[in-house]
Amino acid sequence: MAETNLMAHPSRNLAMELVRATEAAAIRAVPFIGKGDKLAADGAAVDAMRAFLSTVEFAGVVVIGEGEKDRAPMLFNGEQVGTGRGPATDIAVDPIDGTSMTAQGRQNALSMIAASDRGTMLDASSVFYMDKIVSDDRGHGVISLDQSIGDNIRELAKKKGKPVGEMVVAVLDRPRHAGLIEDIRAAGAGTRILLDGDVAGGINAARHGTRIDLCVGVGGSPEGVVTACAIKAMGAFIEGRLAPKDDEERARGEAAGLKFDTVLTANDLVSGDNTMFIATGVTDGGLVDGVRLLGDTIRTESVVLRSRSGTFRRIVSEHVAGRWL
Ligand code: FBP
Repeated sequence: MAETNLMAHPSRNLAMELVRATEAAAIRAVPFIGKGDKLAADGAAVDAMRAFLSTVEFAGVVVIGEGEKDRAPMLFNGEQVGTGRGPATDIAVDPIDGTSMTAQGRQNALSMIAASDRGTMLDASSVFYMDKIVSDDRGHGVISLDQSIGDNIRELAKKKGKPVGEMVVAVLDRPRHAGLIEDIRAAGAGTRILLDGDVAGGINAARHGTRIDLCVGVGGSPEGVVTACAIKAMGAFIEGRLAPKDDEERARGEAAGLKFDTVLTANDLVSGDNTMFIATGVTDGGLVDGVRLLGDTIRTESVVLRSRSGTFRRIVSEHVAGRWL
């Protein structure tokens, strides 16, 4: 992380303004929690996020959004957001990471935005999945996607000075991970099986003092880039490798200039030293609490990370209920 003297050069923290958009998206998703309609939940969150982004003084371009223009009416890839004045910025939006979890009323759904200077975020939208490994800063020089999961667990445990039997590895609960889960347990570590939401899993692995040491496995590639924005702000460790579903997707990715079979570092996923990550809880989770309806007020909890300053802020806001629902 670039060290900047904040007293000599205090600078605007755009993320502190973008958090209003994730708060709004999370609040507007509340009526849909547990109601079984994930598209309606996502639609409400998208509308709210877009409305609040339009108030922010910046020239944002959605690099990772809800999909192509024709299929996604709003926050589509390439859409310009913000007032158009101010810093030229790439943004990745996920108005709800965990739409199914929201619809089912399960834990760990988040509203998220990642941001970085214009042209620095990898556009991996042509390839849906990415293999990832995330840990805190002690993973640097110690773990890699090029090593077996057993070696990664043992090496990181050694660096952390803890027994392998106490290591906890987060993995998405998907049939494709059956072998990986077996290998983690065979190495002597425990698993934390995530129903959905590998961004929150990655951030928890990247922080000191949580119960997760590593987050591994194949998840969305947009989520990999979003996670990288948070990881850079924390000085933590991430690697990714694109995992095309078939030859057709691979060809599409190659045409878009993407590299396969090579390990992508945090800098490959998002270059530059001005990354930001913002998330507000929709439902309760390990990273933040979900939205609470408290009669006259609505409480939201968010995290706001910025690489320039290295800050990890936790923001609890109380909103006047009558103005929202
Ligand atoms: P959505 O809310 O967009 O469905 O994403 C949830 C999520 O669990 C991500 O966190 C993860 O990266 C991805 O889905 C995994 O994809 P899949 O469910 O297809 O395995």
